[in-house]
Amino acid sequence: MNMYNIIQKKRDGGALTEEEIRYFVSAYTSGEIPDYQAAALLMTFFFNGLLEDEIYAMTWAMRDSGEQVDLSSIEGTKVDKHSTGGVGDKTTFIVAPLAAACGTPVAKMSGRGLGFTGGTIDKMESIPGMRTSLEISEFVDLIRRNSMAITGQTGHVAPADKKIYALRDATATVDNLGLIASSVMSKKLSSGSDAFVLDVKCGNGAFMETAADAKALGRLMVDIGRAAGKKTVALVTDMEQPLGYAVGNTIEVIEAIETLKGRGAEDITELSLELCAYMLLAGGKASSREEGRAAAEAALRSGAGLEKFRDFVRSQGGDPGIVDDYSMFPAAMFSEEIKAERSACITGLTAREIGIASREAGAGRLAKDDEIDLAAGIMLKKKTGEWANKGETLAVVCGNNEYKVKNAAVRVRDAFSMGNKTPSIRKLVRAVID
Ligand code: URA
Repeated sequence: MNMYNIIQKKRDGGALTEEEIRYFVSAYTSGEIPDYQAAALLMTFFFNGLLEDEIYAMTWAMRDSGEQVDLSSIEGTKVDKHSTGGVGDKTTFIVAPLAAACGTPVAKMSGRGLGFTGGTIDKMESIPGMRTSLEISEFVDLIRRNSMAITGQTGHVAPADKKIYALRDATATVDNLGLIASSVMSKKLSSGSDAFVLDVKCGNGAFMETAADAKALGRLMVDIGRAAGKKTVALVTDMEQPLGYAVGNTIEVIEAIETLKGRGAEDITELSLELCAYMLLAGGKASSREEGRAAAEAALRSGAGLEKFRDFVRSQGGDPGIVDDYSMFPAAMFSEEIKAERSACITGLTAREIGIASREAGAGRLAKDDEIDLAAGIMLKKKTGEWANKGETLAVVCGNNEYKVKNAAVRVRDAFSMGNKTPSIRKLVRAVID
């Protein structure tokens, strides 16, 4: 097989065969195909789009490029929840312990921050001592003992996706429906779970800005999951404004703990309960979404979810004392308050700008090897639809670099729109695709 002919065929509108795609994926991963030819093919995918069969073939080829985690020794239906990435999304730390407390084993492989959205593994590292790269054998063992574990993606799982994603990131070919769906699902399918609940974010703070695109991505991923024999459901959820009030690393983990204590913001609590309901349904622990929701609410109310979170922290090397003593988390030396210049209603709060500001404050990275300031971030005090009196604090930016904090504060101020009319708030769960 010849890479030149494959590029030419796709460039001219032809359909690649599964064999041709498998050849590209495996030869690029092993280093036989140079970056420039792989980049050229990715660009033909970007401009011409991938046909359904090509998307499936990319998924299977990337899944098969590495190790498949075997969770069959663990009893029950293992469920994974995956978010396509949003600003302030800390739901994993809430739904995984809630679902685990309800008897559904959760096997979660997560990533680091992508673009302006934070990554679960970065957030988890703000818990002192927490180990985030478990050997597969320990990952499996912890799920067996504790019903949940979260680890970073090892280099052995879907290595083709890792290499192709890095090239897409450098060649402006990330935001393509077929490439995103095959990338996400190749990793999910390799990570060993039996069922997936996908949270496809939609809005200015997400990859997919329109509901139509988010639904199309959700549909595609659900179809791939089903074709692979896995129960898969996707929720399309709003990402016009950040989820909850904290955006960063440490402060997001604290907000997740507060939610498990029953003191969470309405949106984060609602989304977590809804995702958990679908996880319990997918895991066979509930016979309807309503029954799953009732069980999730009970686990939140009783504190069973919080106890499971404590076990999770302890089992991965962290100090469970952080649940009661937030002073054990990394602290920020500098902070800057943004105050309302007049009395008005918050008519908009752009998630994307808050995400970028959080990265500017030090909470995210521009390049893959950038260091993260775990204490940096933005604590919102007001969100869309709330009223602020003149001089009231709208948000606090914090971090350990004074210059970065001040710069980020300017962007945070611009992220707020103020007016006299109460805006209509978009529905949090915009569609369910199953
Ligand atoms: N997340 C992934 O894992 N892959 C993509 O292509 C985009 C987001």
